[in-house]
Amino acid sequence: MSHDASQIEARVDAILAGLTLEEKLGQMSQYPRLAEDDRERIRRGEVGSSIFASSQWAGKDMPSAAKAEFANAFQREAVERSRAGIPVLFARDVIHGHRTVFPIPLGQAATWSPERVEQGAAVAAREAAAEGIKWVFTPMLDIARDPRWGRIAEGFGEDPWLAAALAAAAVRGYQGDDPAAPDRVLACAKHYVGYGFAEGGRDYDRTQISAQDLEDICLPPFHAAVRAGVATIMSGFHNLNGTPLSSHAHLLTEVLRHRWGFRGPVVSDWNAVAELMAHGVAANKAEAAQLALRAGVDMEMVSDCYRASLAEAVRAGRLPESYVNQATRRILRAKVQAGLFETPYTDPARATQVTLTPAHRALARQVAGESLVLLKNSDGLLPLGDRFKHVVVLGELAGARDALFGTWTLDGQGADVTPIADAIRAAAPAGVRVTAVTAYPDKMVAYAHQADAVVLVVGEEPTRSGEASSIAEIVLPPGQRELIEAVALNDVPVILVVVAGRPLALARETRLVQALVYAWHPGVEGGHAVADLLFGRIEPQGRLPVSFPRVIGQVPVYYNHPPSGRPARARGYSSAYMDVAVGPLFPFGYGLAYTTFAYDELTVSGPVLRGDGAIEVAARITNTGTRPGVETAQLYVRDRVASVSRPVRELKGFQKVALQPGASERVVFRLTADDLVFAGADGALCREAGAYDVWIAPDSASGLKGEFTLEGV
Ligand code: BGC
Repeated sequence: MSHDASQIEARVDAILAGLTLEEKLGQMSQYPRLAEDDRERIRRGEVGSSIFASSQWAGKDMPSAAKAEFANAFQREAVERSRAGIPVLFARDVIHGHRTVFPIPLGQAATWSPERVEQGAAVAAREAAAEGIKWVFTPMLDIARDPRWGRIAEGFGEDPWLAAALAAAAVRGYQGDDPAAPDRVLACAKHYVGYGFAEGGRDYDRTQISAQDLEDICLPPFHAAVRAGVATIMSGFHNLNGTPLSSHAHLLTEVLRHRWGFRGPVVSDWNAVAELMAHGVAANKAEAAQLALRAGVDMEMVSDCYRASLAEAVRAGRLPESYVNQATRRILRAKVQAGLFETPYTDPARATQVTLTPAHRALARQVAGESLVLLKNSDGLLPLGDRFKHVVVLGELAGARDALFGTWTLDGQGADVTPIADAIRAAAPAGVRVTAVTAYPDKMVAYAHQADAVVLVVGEEPTRSGEASSIAEIVLPPGQRELIEAVALNDVPVILVVVAGRPLALARETRLVQALVYAWHPGVEGGHAVADLLFGRIEPQGRLPVSFPRVIGQVPVYYNHPPSGRPARARGYSSAYMDVAVGPLFPFGYGLAYTTFAYDELTVSGPVLRGDGAIEVAARITNTGTRPGVETAQLYVRDRVASVSRPVRELKGFQKVALQPGASERVVFRLTADDLVFAGADGALCREAGAYDVWIAPDSASGLKGEFTLEGV
């Protein structure tokens, strides 16, 4: 059902008018875990929202219909037995799929496909909503440049333009036109803002972000989510330039509300209001509560500072009740928007029908296939076809099931997964024998030299990335490099498949093998997707959403850095290392296909872009190989001279083009002055006249270059 805005306001006002102060604070409280003794609490009107996140609700041990019934039972307490009868908003970390697990968000970003991200989010929403979950804590929009940070897995990579496009797509997928629909949910853009810049890549650590990076890099994906209508936002755990985000009035109110016009509720992260004490900006719960609420945090997740102190603060005149009313109004509005008052319960039968359907699986396989990035393919080793009569598949992860899910998978089940080794066996053409050895490295090495080709699957267990899972050495886990070295000693071609939640530093490993496929954590259909790719049933089309360092000491390495007065060069007094080559091992935007593409005939529609006009930048792309393929053409610009030093390149668009062998297509990008806005020296957004370089490119390190001048701004 869609609601007219003024009707919603009238309705929210009417509900709010009937609430006691304690009931309002109840709406502003989010509890983790529902247990039997929460029933009474719900009846007292103290539970505005609850996270389905306890072991009881871990989801693995309960069929979908039982989960729906569980949610309904608690909802009945709120709707039928509490004084105000306001439904509870059930939330869950449905991060990259629900029972149907999609690739981790960083893997989804490697598809460079807003369409796939939207479709995947819609599947997750359908499965979650059927179990009574009407609010999901996703998408995570934290730009990350440091692969030590475990949560890089949960975001869309290093680039704000790509992340903004995918943010809007995710919001559309979760919420649709109407989050109240039975197969949609409220989304939550998190962790506002800058959390991904954690110092040293250590989770929860401080962040120091310049006004320029905040505006140009960190805020744009959130702004895109707000423009796409995201219903809610979560404030981060971290301290930004000295102020914790959960007490950051400027960002939570000035930017989010006044500048962007966001009207939904902001929820703190887990315990983050109480952690204002640990940050050293509040002496006690009462101070923490006042700081957070006045800054713009409407709902407190898990900790109880609001409940413990705000009623008294209002009654004693230390806090105007208008703050409480404003927060409660935003929360009630979200509940109306979610259709909870009309449809507080969910249908257990529907939960079974919509979960892990063949269509959902097919989409998960497609997204996983499109997320795989081919990083090396010497002498056209891949696709394997039937040239190699004995393929030996090695590595513990080749036999893995739920290790393919990645971080934040609460509802996927290992039994749903076909391991990579089994999928390769199933996909092998007639006449190709497949042997898999997934335990005992000695045995793996012994089998390697009996092979015509070896597929070696290495990488990270899901618990090695994600929240509180940062690592200092972004190399393969102990023993895996030795295994690669031992296997590579034989004169047998080795295809390395890396399953991981972050870019790993693989300079040496890359040299040792003939082909390298980066699979991220590919989800429930990841095994089949990898096999499809190896045998050429699908064409590789993933592109890196993040730069890959050669070694840990280069971190952070990202493509859109400003120039140095002495740009990095191999020799001389320049901004380079003495021991390691300049630049990443693989640049942002990079990825190979089984065919080749040529770029030519770059045109810029005119030499001048007027402030109120547009120009078109175009180029011809030709499939110069012998197989079909999908190329991702990328548009970059550089503002040559400005009042502040501007990045050496910035992504401003991308297009995927499917081409048959020999076929050509012109890609056309449209640029306006609005695409060239940036933060000036004072941090305010501006546009400046001047000369720009522009590229249409296969990645951030190459491409055809043109130019134009921006005038009249
Ligand atoms: C994480 C959030 C998550 C929340 C609720 C926190 O620890 O930072 O991303 O949504 O927990 O589970």
